[in-house]
Amino acid sequence: MKPKAMQLQINGQTHRVQAAPDKPLLWLLREDLALTGTKFGCGAAQCGACTVHIDGAATRCCVLPIQALKGRRITTIEALDQSRIGRALQQAWLDEQVPQCGYCQSGMLMAAAALLAEQRRPSEVQIKAAMSNLCRCGTYPRVRAAIERAATALQAGSTT
Ligand code: FES
Ligand code: FES
Repeated sequence: MKPKAMQLQINGQTHRVQAAPDKPLLWLLREDLALTGTKFGCGAAQCGACTVHIDGAATRCCVLPIQALKGRRITTIEALDQSRIGRALQQAWLDEQVPQCGYCQSGMLMAAAALLAEQRRPSEVQIKAAMSNLCRCGTYPRVRAAIERAATALQAGSTT
């Protein structure tokens, strides 16, 4: 498709972009806006490396055309620390030393943030169901522990 002028709401700001309407959001973020925290893994909505929030819901954006996003609220890993849940997760990720190579971790954090926004105290089953992102390094047990730690901190009010 030919490039077209569009407005998108990303991380609380309006971005005016000139891009093909069928361009996947992942590539608009990375190539046009230099928001490179969102990663490319499979390109087929399978691995979760490219997870962002669309109106608060965890969404894989590698096959999501920007024309579907008019008027929608897009949040990327770069704005994770703008919410209390995001900051609690960042601290828990540090405390549990979750990442190994780190490649999948921004997608993991965005999926975890969407989960905690929905479920303040998710069960192990709910965590497993929500966290379908793939990690080649096998950080799954630490991801689960960090989500539980963040949920506890949020409930205890010991987060900023
Ligand atoms: S890169 Fe999007 S799900 Fe794998
Ligand atoms: S930490 Fe290496 S792929 Fe997940």
